[in-house]
Amino acid sequence: MTEASSLTSDKKYIASSFPKELDPLRLPKHIAVIMDGNGRWAKRKGLPRAMGHTAGVDALKKTLRLCSDWGVSALTVYAFSTENWSRPGEEVSFLMTLFKRVLKRELESLKLQKVRISFLGDLEKLPKELQALISEATDLTSKNEGIHFNVCTNYGGRRELVKAAQKLAIRSSKGELDPALINENVFAAELSTANVVDPDLLIRTSGERRISNFLLWQLAYAEIYITETLWPDFDENSLLCALVDFQSRSRRFGGLNQISTDHSSKRF
Ligand code: IPE
Ligand code: IPE
Ligand code: MG
Repeated sequence: MTEASSLTSDKKYIASSFPKELDPLRLPKHIAVIMDGNGRWAKRKGLPRAMGHTAGVDALKKTLRLCSDWGVSALTVYAFSTENWSRPGEEVSFLMTLFKRVLKRELESLKLQKVRISFLGDLEKLPKELQALISEATDLTSKNEGIHFNVCTNYGGRRELVKAAQKLAIRSSKGELDPALINENVFAAELSTANVVDPDLLIRTSGERRISNFLLWQLAYAEIYITETLWPDFDENSLLCALVDFQSRSRRFGGLNQISTDHSSKRF
């Protein structure tokens, strides 16, 4: 063995802060989060709801950093649903302004962290200035090889499914696609998550027990973890609890034998 090869190691580098409670080989590859409870967090403190959203951004930054440091490949968060437009105009416009401000402010840091950011949802309905920032952030980070960070903005699972069906129908009506050949893989390739593995773990904060139109297709076999913690209070310990719980699950995917949480779901 040459001196050079004896220095080479196959071991994956794990940040020194990697928690001893976790098995690095059985981490979820993809975590999805319904970041809920910003309004209640603010109300409990006697603050306007807007302050809850601002505090939620800090929780998101920390979660992204931890997922990246601990070796999770993808993080997908629910930032604004297709139903959230029904909130008071003042709250909706605060959120749009917050998204712009945060994206502008954090772009350099995302680049430094090698994050690849993508936005899922009906982006053309968002304010033009926000759309421009989204394109810029997406383009400038598209070659990054770190964590893939998906932000669902004006996203609705049902809308995504209908759009996919529409695209397939158009291709079929043009004679480009034989309807008999439409299978799960062909369908999934029309979703905004094409090329992203399905989430292994869904975390919802604030104790609500529903998925609120989030990733209806992709969550088919995700493990669901619900915590009473409100999103702005979600911290390193909260993430660790979710991951320890995930690693205790027996994932069967409809079968009978225990399958390791390291199961790699098929790519779309
Ligand atoms: C989640 O927090 C953030 C968004 C939906 C944008 P909420 O604003 O839903 O907070 P609660 O559920 O009212 O506490
Ligand atoms: C889901 O939270 C959407 C986001 C976190 C962006 P909501 O607060 O809108 O969901 P419901 O109304 O409680 O189902
Ligand atoms: Mg809510």
